Amino acid sequence: MKIPSNKIQDLITFFRAELKGLYTESEINILMDYCFEVFSGIRFSQAKVSQATISESQLLKFNFAIKDLKKHVPVQYVVGKAHFYGSVFNVRPSVLIPRPETEELVDLIIKENKGITDLSIIDIGTGSGCIAVSLKKNLQDAKVSALDISAAALEVATENAMLNNVEIEFIQRDILNEDLSNGQKFDVIVSNPPYVCRSEHSEMEKNVLDYEPHLALFVEDDDPLLFYRAITESAVRHGRAGARIYFEINQAFGQETADLMKEKGFENIELLKDINNKNRILRGNLP
Ligand SMILES: C[S@@+](CC[C@H](N)C(=O)[O-])C[C@H]1O[C@@H](n2cnc3c(N)ncnc32)[C@H](O)[C@@H]1O
Repeated sequence: MKIPSNKIQDLITFFRAELKGLYTESEINILMDYCFEVFSGIRFSQAKVSQATISESQLLKFNFAIKDLKKHVPVQYVVGKAHFYGSVFNVRPSVLIPRPETEELVDLIIKENKGITDLSIIDIGTGSGCIAVSLKKNLQDAKVSALDISAAALEVATENAMLNNVEIEFIQRDILNEDLSNGQKFDVIVSNPPYVCRSEHSEMEKNVLDYEPHLALFVEDDDPLLFYRAITESAVRHGRAGARIYFEINQAFGQETADLMKEKGFENIELLKDINNKNRILRGNLP
């Protein structure tokens, strides 16, 4: 079936009819909002009352989007954009879609580091670059570096730095097998590393499993703290005196991850809850 005309009202009726039963009505409204914003530059609230038409090329984009949404492709991949901490980011299946919990991590870092001069920050496992870019936008004097093992992710992150007019040093490196930097020291080390255990597969949404990069999500069950160990060890070597470390964590391993930081010599370790009251953020600092 194709969209019957290029009148916006016909498009809305078609969109609803095609996705009915696959998504709730309020989900369909959110999906339409994404599509209208990216494909036509208007919000769904405006589209709903518009008597205008859209071009053939826009109509084609809606047609493809509806096809993908029927297959449960996440809407952010369908339109290629995601919102994070007040900015827009390009996203493709090579990067994780930024999550609201991660916005809380960014917010904490900004609050605790605002006004400090000569800050040097590194974001490990940068993916779309959402953390690094948001930090640089809000801590403008800081020097921000961002690292990922994936060349495809770094390509998206580089686009996002340009899209948001910020300068970031991107580094392709394997944090599990290579050193963090060539001698550079940091005041802030942040990471949202892969932390979902393979055994948690069954609890995850199908659209996450089918479409988001497994490299960004999973760790083996027998070593869930693999990344946290490698990153804290690197942080000890590459942190300046008093350096602060901020992690997004697996809620199931809050205490174990905190103990690991303590073992490596970190102080003032705090386990913080997210909006859903789950242990999600861990912070601490070097002496
Ligand atoms: C959970 S995602 C986080 C993405 C982004 N920072 C965010 O918060 O949305 C983890 C990231 O770590 C990267 N990664 C996985 N293994 C890595 C490794 N050995 N060294 C460096 N980065 C790695 C993945 O490519 C992915 O981009």
